[in-house]
Amino acid sequence: MAKKKTPRLVRGVFVTFEGIDGSGKTTQARLLYESLKREGWPVILLREPGGTRVAEKLRRILLQEETEPVAPRAEILLYVASRAQLIEQKIKPALKAKKLVICDRYIDSTTAYQAYGRGFDPLWVERLNRWGSSEVLPDLTFFIDVPVPVGLARKKGKHLDRLEREGEHFEKKVYRGYHRLAKKHRRICIMDGTPTPLEVAEKVKTVMDAYLKRAEK
Ligand code: TYD
Repeated sequence: MAKKKTPRLVRGVFVTFEGIDGSGKTTQARLLYESLKREGWPVILLREPGGTRVAEKLRRILLQEETEPVAPRAEILLYVASRAQLIEQKIKPALKAKKLVICDRYIDSTTAYQAYGRGFDPLWVERLNRWGSSEVLPDLTFFIDVPVPVGLARKKGKHLDRLEREGEHFEKKVYRGYHRLAKKHRRICIMDGTPTPLEVAEKVKTVMDAYLKRAEK
């Protein structure tokens, strides 16, 4: 039997996963990464905030208990800074090398959490995002959609980071923000995150395969 050809991309492809806390997007990002890897795609998996030495330091400031509260303006700039570092160090080189980059959270997290959650102007935050990311925008974004009570129930009893301790009212604002973003940007694909992880993963893979087929042409 002829050996299957290693799949190749004609250009870099950038895929992001988004969702509220407890949506299961980290699991979905990993499952998609593993299945593409098995098929031989040149794929890498990254997460935000973090992913480089400098960005991991910023992650620690952002998510751990600090000796003083992180001011909302400092918070948004730190997320954007962490991302700018990840883009220069990892995302740009990988896209240039025609890889498929999967990132667990990206610019939409900043709009959902810092604009819709914290109350900064969404249009301004989207502009800041474009600037901070040097216009490196995702080709495809999976918004793993679970209602806030489901997300909170999944997190119950687990260690919560600084943002996750904000509670239900905050998560609801973030959730509504994601839906607004999904209405605005065609690249955002809403995936029902309530079935089992493997069922969700299968649907995500179907959308990804269709995208890759189109991208080959
Ligand atoms: P993380 O441990 O990656 O959580 P999760 O597994 O839920 O993604 O922590 C990321 C936290 O940071 C999460 O609560 C969302 C928040 N966040 C923002 O508020 N703004 C951002 O721009 C990003 C990237 C994350």
